[in-house]
Amino acid sequence: MTDLLQLARAAQANAHAPYSGFRVGAAIRLQGGETFAGCNVENASYGATICAERGAIMSAVAALGTVSVVEVVVVSEGNPPWPPCGMCRQVLSEFCVPDCPVHAVNGEGVHLTWRFDQLLPSGFTPEYLIESP
Ligand code: THU
Repeated sequence: MTDLLQLARAAQANAHAPYSGFRVGAAIRLQGGETFAGCNVENASYGATICAERGAIMSAVAALGTVSVVEVVVVSEGNPPWPPCGMCRQVLSEFCVPDCPVHAVNGEGVHLTWRFDQLLPSGFTPEYLIESP
């Protein structure tokens, strides 16, 4: 957890957030122990913004292909600290193990933790794409 927190804070410092002013960092650990980080990257066309959590996942997949995520840390200045947004939960659901701990931490050190399947119960999964006979 401590290593992911450091990675997430370093990424948070690089956030491109001139529109909202909210800097977010995220870091993930994979089954094999590898770690990846991301930050929010906003855009003047607001809808093109990418959240920190999705940035971390995209980096992991770009480096290694399909991955299995076993721990997530999100750092924000929210109070309470921000959990991943709905879109990030959906993207994480494709790669997270169900009991994956998701930690949200703010600058004051407030720390909340959920299991991933608490954050997105009954999500849309690839199983729905399997055609029934
Ligand atoms: N943001 C994230 O990076 N992750 C989330 O899960 C929630 C929101 C970013 C998007 C935007 O740049 C800023 O925070 C305010 O919504």
